[in-house]
Formats: sequence, structure tokens, C-alpha cells
Amino acid sequence: MGIDLSGTSNLERKKVTVADFSKMKNHDQPIVMVTSYDYPTSIIADEVGVDSILVGDSYGMVVLGYDTTIPVTVEELLPVCQAVKRGSSHSLLIGDMPFLSFQVSEEDAIRNAGRFVKEGRMEAVKIEGGTEMAHMARAVTKAGIPVLGHIGITPQTATLHGGYRIQGKNADSGERLIEDAKSLEDAGVFGIVLEMITEEVAKVITKTVSVPTIGIGSGRYCDGQVLVLHDILGLYPRFLPKFAKRYVDLASTIKAAVADYASEVRRGGFPEERHVFKMDDTERVRMDSRQKKS
Ligand code: KIV
Repeated sequence: MGIDLSGTSNLERKKVTVADFSKMKNHDQPIVMVTSYDYPTSIIADEVGVDSILVGDSYGMVVLGYDTTIPVTVEELLPVCQAVKRGSSHSLLIGDMPFLSFQVSEEDAIRNAGRFVKEGRMEAVKIEGGTEMAHMARAVTKAGIPVLGHIGITPQTATLHGGYRIQGKNADSGERLIEDAKSLEDAGVFGIVLEMITEEVAKVITKTVSVPTIGIGSGRYCDGQVLVLHDILGLYPRFLPKFAKRYVDLASTIKAAVADYASEVRRGGFPEERHVFKMDDTERVRMDSRQKKS
């Protein structure tokens, strides 16, 4: 039997915790994670009952229009985290630590992770990197902040190394990824994002580690899935990765609505009578008479 996090109404729903992630893995209950970068989509995701919301550094690309996630800063993400927090009361909230906010020193990693919790009001942080970053994950976890690992394609460094390449295409690289996952598990992470890893390797990792794996482009055998909300909604028209599924084409819907608005304004169709504010009759008469005198 699965664990019941849903309740019968949104008010009754239980708050999802990091401990629930491991219970869900043990009960074969798929974990649903989605990104959000603002108050309205956080409300929607929370009401739908997603288990976790990730304030991803993908915000830099999807919302700010950067080419990569490299320029994203802690200062840029903190107000985004706060907005998402205001919209959500049940989902587990995870803040994504941006490039160079955790790599310099353990002290720096703890201090910046602390900002996500204290100022951003997140409940956990995500750190990119495998064995080479495990000591940072350990330090942050030891400081009392739950860490979600992230291996496979790690966008912050992938772009510096020549782009996004599917990971785990051969046995050697598969072995390295399994070692990465084990190092992170040993460091105390509560889960690991597997990004663009072959399905075979992702399956082995999922069986090998005791913590849940959250796949993005890593096939059907992970313990959960995460997608960028703008990909689900068709709101990032520049590019749709092969692994993502567009459930609705909101960009076209928005385009049509803005085009309708523009054409109504141009032909005098908007605003209509029902959109305007009126003076009361006495005040209008007083104003008219003043106008006539002047
Ligand atoms: O920044 C992000 O959105 C992510 C997910 C794609 C896992 O890291």
C-alpha cells in the first residue's frame, strides 16, 4: 500500500517532508517534482498536489533569457524562492544552488545553502555534481540542511565542457555514474536527480542506492520524475528537449490572446462600457458647469 499524502482536500493534505521521499521509494510510489519560479504557478502546482517544487536555476534560461544557467546568482534566486514559498503550503520546496555558490569551499556552501533556507524559506537545496562534490553535500547536510544531489548532465558545467551529451552510453561511464550516486548517498543526500542518463544505467542506480532517484530524461525506472514547468506548458518556445512532454501549447494560446487585445485596442473595441469607471451624476453636472465657465 502507498503512503497517503493527498488527503481529501488541499487543506487536509499533509506537508511533504524529505522523510516522505524515502517512504515513497520504499512503497514504490512515484515522486512528482516540477519547477516553479513564481507565486501563481506555485499555487497551481501545490493545489494539484505535486510532491515537490524545485526552484531551479533553469529560471535563468527560461525566465531571464540567459543562454545557460552559469550567470544565475543566489541574489537572483532568493526572491524567486520567497515567491514560490508564498504560493505553496504542502509540496517539499527545494532551492537550486547556482554555479559557484557551493564549489569554492565547504564554508561557502553551508553559508549559501543557509541563505536558501533562512532567506528563501526553502526546505532543502540541490547541488550539482557527483563524487567530486560529495564533500560539499556532506558539509551542507551535516549543517542540518537536506541536500538533493544531481548527476548525469549537470548543466552548470556541461556548457563549459562543450554542451549536453547523454551520459552512461557505455559501461565505463555507467560505472562512474553508479559510483557518483553511491558517493552522494554516502554523503547523506536525501535523493538524487538523474539528468539525461541512459535508461539502463538509471535503472541500476535506482536499484543500487537507498535514496530515491528523480529522473529528467533518464527513462522509466527512476523513483520519480521532474520536468521544467515551462516545458510542460509549452511556454519556452525556443526549444523542447526530446525527453520533455508538452501537455499544452500555452505560448500559442497567449499569442492569440495578446493579438486579440492589440487588434481590439487598434479598432476601438477595447475598453467597452463595462470596463470603465463613472462619476455620479451630480459630480458630472458640477464638472460640466465648471468646464463651461473656464
Ligand atoms: O534547474 C533545473 O530546473 C533543474 C532540473 C532540470 C532538475 O536542475
